[in-house]
This record gives sequence, C-alpha cells and structure tokens, in this order.
Amino acid sequence: MTKLTIALAKGRLQDQAIKLFYKAGIYVAEEQISSRKLILEDKEKNYNFILVKPTDVPVYVEHGIADLGICGQDVLLESIADVHQPLDLGFGYCRIAVAGKKQEDNLTKELSVLRVATKYPRIAAEYFQQRGVAVELIKLSGSIELAPLLGLADRIVDLVETGRTLIENGLEIKEIVSETTAQLIANRASFQLKRTSILELVDLLAKTLDKP
Ligand code: PRP
Repeated sequence: MTKLTIALAKGRLQDQAIKLFYKAGIYVAEEQISSRKLILEDKEKNYNFILVKPTDVPVYVEHGIADLGICGQDVLLESIADVHQPLDLGFGYCRIAVAGKKQEDNLTKELSVLRVATKYPRIAAEYFQQRGVAVELIKLSGSIELAPLLGLADRIVDLVETGRTLIENGLEIKEIVSETTAQLIANRASFQLKRTSILELVDLLAKTLDKP
C-alpha cells in the first residue's frame, strides 16, 4: 500500500486519535509516543504521523505535506484551508460558546461596541455579524477566560469542554455558537492520487468507530 502521512493535532485530541488508530490495528510503539519526536511511524511502516499545533493541521494538509489530518471542527471553521473532510470522528466533543461574567452590571445599556476576546476571530466575526451586533475583536492565543476578568473584554468566544474553566473563573455561557468534534481531513490531490489507500483507512476508521 502507499505510505500515508497523517498530521495529528497535539494536545487534547492527540491521545484519542492514537487510541483510535490502536483500536484499528495501527500501532505506534509506546517509546515513540512518550518521546519528544515529532514524526512517528506505525510498527508496519504504513503511516507517518506528524505532531503539529491544532491550527497547523489544515495548513500541512492543504499544502500536501500530510495526506490526512485530524483536528477539531473548530479549527476548520476558523481556517481558510481548502481540504476534503471525509469523516467525522465523533470524539473530542466541545462547544464553541460566547461567555461572559456571571455578574455584570447593565452591559447592554452601557456598551455600543462589544469587546470580544477570542482565539477564533473569524468564527466570532461571522457570528456577531449575522446577528447585527457591532464588536471589537481582540485576538488572544490562550487563557481567554482572563480577558473579561481583567477588563480586557466584555465577552469571550471560546471552546467549552467540561465547563470547569468558566465556572472556576466566575464566567458563564451566554450563547452557543457551534459544536465541534474531531474531523479526519484529506489533501484534495492526495484524495485522488492515493485514493485506494485513503479510502481503505477511512473505511477502517469508520468501522472501528462503530465497534463497542
Ligand atoms: C481550552 C479552552 C478553555 C478550556 C475549556 O483551552 O480555551 O480554556 O480548554 O475546557 P473546560 O471547559 O473543560 O474547562 P486549552 O486547554 O485548549 O488551552 P488554552 O487556554 O491555551 O487555549
């Protein structure tokens, strides 16, 4: 079979992705997983896995460096990458939400432009534009929940998984923007040129997801 390169999002989805491959009979040696290596290979040498930041997964896939990738739908909504999306993997469920302080004083009366901090400026811009709400977007890279606490923003648009980070910082969900789960994505050219290998893997992963 043609060797495939798969970009995996480091962080919350990485372990679950590797577990899914394991369950599908694609094994990566434990010493590779626990190493600092950024390029891993399965035991049968059919796949290379490259470990990249979540937002870089669609970049590597669009440019064809990786044939396939696994990242969240949130990353794809925010990305402008043109990639094929053959399979929803279902795990890594989170909500993208508008959140703000639990206790706030007369926000709507006082504000003409809502200040929104987020690592998802495209998603946030589209969401508020559709609702005719004027916003000033403040792009952050992490710890978004700090922004309303310290007065940098009135609202955040951020990922909510368990909701603990919001609760423990005195914030609450105000509106749900979207839901997100892990997605398998493919480079458009690879999807044609390596069609048989890619479809075999998509089929294998889909069947594995259906197994109890
Ligand atoms: C995400 C998100 C929230 C947190 C939500 O951050 O931005 O901060 O997880 O999870 P919870 O609902 O289970 O508390 P991440 O851990 O990806 O780190 P970041 O702050 O660097 O974005």
